[in-house]
Amino acid sequence: MYTTKLHLIPLILVLLPYLAQARSYGGRNGGIAIYWGQNGNEGRLNETCATGRYKYVNLAFLNIFGGGQVPSLNLAGHCDPSSGGCVGLSSEIKFCQSQGIKLLLSLGGGIGNYSFSSREDAKNFAQYLWDNFLGGHSNSRPLGNAALDGIDFDIESGSTLHWDDLARFLHMYNRRNGGRKVYLGAAPQCPFPDRYLGTPLETGLFDYVWVQFYNNPPCHYNGNITNLIDSWNLWSSRKYIKKLFMGLPAATQAAGRGFLPPNVLTSQVLPIIKRSPKYGGVMFWSKYWDDQSGYTRQIVNFV
Ligand SMILES: *[C@@H]1O[C@H](CO)[C@@H](O)[C@H](O)[C@H]1NC(C)=O
Ligand SMILES: *[C@@H]1O[C@H](CO)[C@@H](O)[C@H](O)[C@H]1NC(C)=O
Ligand SMILES: *[C@@H]1O[C@H](CO)[C@@H](O)[C@H](O)[C@H]1NC(C)=O
Repeated sequence: MYTTKLHLIPLILVLLPYLAQARSYGGRNGGIAIYWGQNGNEGRLNETCATGRYKYVNLAFLNIFGGGQVPSLNLAGHCDPSSGGCVGLSSEIKFCQSQGIKLLLSLGGGIGNYSFSSREDAKNFAQYLWDNFLGGHSNSRPLGNAALDGIDFDIESGSTLHWDDLARFLHMYNRRNGGRKVYLGAAPQCPFPDRYLGTPLETGLFDYVWVQFYNNPPCHYNGNITNLIDSWNLWSSRKYIKKLFMGLPAATQAAGRGFLPPNVLTSQVLPIIKRSPKYGGVMFWSKYWDDQSGYTRQIVNFV
């Protein structure tokens, strides 16, 4: 018995490098980011966080601001911000944060009216965001007194100007008076560089970049991962990008084109992108579509 075990020691020593390699084969561990807010039938925010599957939740969208407009939040059927109906989300936001989940307010989206008329306009809007959603104070905070972790840029229409200014002005509130970090996220489209977010990203101030690898044939999955991986490699080669996420539709109907089946993600794509030092995880549009397809349930242990 004893001697048999001793015989195994040299064998284990020989195998050690291979065992270590097998352990690191999976590469870096990432997290899942999800967009929540554009469909009232996708569960509450606290339920979304209680699934334990998401590490980042982008609240979508603040879609009217700039150019003298009164900023307006749209959370679809979840609640009506204009009548103060969303302040109850404060306790849900705090619950999510207690689970270690980062919550960002997402600016823009496909439908809305947002542009800055000047640098000053962007500066005033940064102050508005700080006062109403981050660590500042205002008597009309749409989500109550809970302070969000940061701001996500999902800019897809309007003027291309002053988004870099907004990033710089928001960064000035970072750890203000010994306070918390203000995280910045961005969701550019995959064709490089992004028309709206190319210049802002070059500031190097963004903590998370969740590129939308869909609705764009030159860089989305089309039954072949070549274009997708080539595009990922181009994005990840940019020095100013710190953490890169692969943004995907959570169901075939969630985007016009570019759906990547979960088994292709886990068997072909993740083993490649997880080797990238920039790998941060995977982003999905959206919680509603994820509920319909069960996508993240299938991949959460591989991300
Ligand atoms: C979410 O919040 C609602 C309203 O406060 C509460 O009834 C429910 O139990 C909460 N759910 C979770 C999972 O925390
Ligand atoms: C969009 O915003 C601009 C100001 O930036 C304003 O002049 C315009 O009327 C707005 N459009 C609509 C449809 O509200
Ligand atoms: C995928 O596309 C690339 C480039 O278009 C091509 O070279 C390659 O042969 C394709 N692979 C498969 C399996 O179709």
